[in-house]
Amino acid sequence: MSNVVIVGAQWGDEGKGKVVDLFTSWADVVVRYQGGANAGHTLVVGGVKTVLHLVPSGVLHPGKKCIIGNGVVVDPEALMEEIDLLKSRGLLADPAQLTVSDNAHVILPYHKRIDAGREKKNAIGTTGRGIGPCYEDKVARRGIRVRDLLKADALRQRLVMRLEEANGQIAALGGERVELEPLLEWGLKLGERMAPYVGDGSMSVAYEMEKGRAVLFEGAQGTLLDIDHGTYPYVTSSNTVAGNAAVGACIDSVIGITKAYTTRVGNGPLPTELNDATGERLRSVGAEFGATTGRPRRCGWLDALVLRYAARVNGLSGLAITKLDVLTGFEKLLVANAYKLPNGKTVTDFPSDPELLAEAQPVYEELPGWKEPLSDLREYKELPENAQRYVERVEQLVGVETIAVSVGAERAQTIVRKNPFRHG
Ligand code: GDP
Ligand code: IMO
Ligand code: MG
Repeated sequence: MSNVVIVGAQWGDEGKGKVVDLFTSWADVVVRYQGGANAGHTLVVGGVKTVLHLVPSGVLHPGKKCIIGNGVVVDPEALMEEIDLLKSRGLLADPAQLTVSDNAHVILPYHKRIDAGREKKNAIGTTGRGIGPCYEDKVARRGIRVRDLLKADALRQRLVMRLEEANGQIAALGGERVELEPLLEWGLKLGERMAPYVGDGSMSVAYEMEKGRAVLFEGAQGTLLDIDHGTYPYVTSSNTVAGNAAVGACIDSVIGITKAYTTRVGNGPLPTELNDATGERLRSVGAEFGATTGRPRRCGWLDALVLRYAARVNGLSGLAITKLDVLTGFEKLLVANAYKLPNGKTVTDFPSDPELLAEAQPVYEELPGWKEPLSDLREYKELPENAQRYVERVEQLVGVETIAVSVGAERAQTIVRKNPFRHG
């Protein structure tokens, strides 16, 4: 038995979907453990692009079990849209391939209205998918769960209890109220469509593990967007770190996914951000536009402090470096290895104080670039010497070995150095 967690080591969009899809060939089961349709995970196989928001990125492999865990917040409309799209492509032919946890919380239209209203006043730069307000309801013990969509009486009762207060919140934010009857009808209709997939997710994972199956846990967002460990308040509303996947599971390894540079979408600190032609170049060559909202991603050089921090809070045992191909053609490459803080100190650990972080000036080391395109390379030794040097310097700076290097969006455009399911 072997359980591996895939986690974003930066601010999201590191290429988790691509890596999960690739590693699924060694797994039996793929579990999404947090977040919701704020995620956009892109898979490209044989030139066909698939963007997944809720369904685990193992779904393109027929016969591999996919589980949406109880820590996910499920937007029923987004889920059914995704399922319909997959079915129209001949995937998910057997509903038993996908289990949606009956205890997962549901995103309702009022969550989105509250999210949108708040963004007008105090912008975090959310995806507008209702994520924060849904997790708030979960923690406040007034949420609606997937199981509630299957029972008309229970749903009515719970909505009656919650809706008045939710409408009060919406009104205070200048939004349009949500009416009970249409909401009830909406929820029950979607519940009926979701029913073939709904089950005890926790039990399913336990069952698979008992059978000795290899389980891959798929994180959404990234470490620096974690509600506890991220750049608060510019974070998402769940724990994105590997520890959150471990509830009830014994984890054998944690693989951190990082781009060969840094991006972030939404507001908040990004010490290595480049508001210049270099940043523009990373954005255009790397096609850095959000998979969920289409927003341009902010781009910058790689930040070793961020990766060391991600290694610490996730307990990373390996790194997968994506988008190395995007760095082709830069004469020199910079990597931040320290910050100069406004108090005059230079630090090599990611600071927890947001005021210090906001003013942090990266101290860079310079590495030589390479000119050769990388996208057709499949062996590590074929990489130009300076590309190998870059990867090895990152390993050294982070103190974690690189088990995979991605050189293009296609599943096949990957140099795998180690199978994460095999120990040692
Ligand atoms: P995720 O949210 O972590 O799954 O990442 P996204 O799918 O939001 O963003 C990653 C983007 O980079 C997608 O468009 C991928 O198709 C693309 N991508 C992934 N790996 C590579 C790579 O090695 N090279 C290039 N050029 N693109 C990649
Ligand atoms: P994947 O899984 C990048 C960001 C939003 C915003 C903050 C809060 O594709 O890596 P939310 O809607 O979650 O309340 O927004 O988090 N964010 C992401 N950024 N990739 C994601 O997911 C993200 N999910 C949320 O842009 O800054
Ligand atoms: Mg994404």
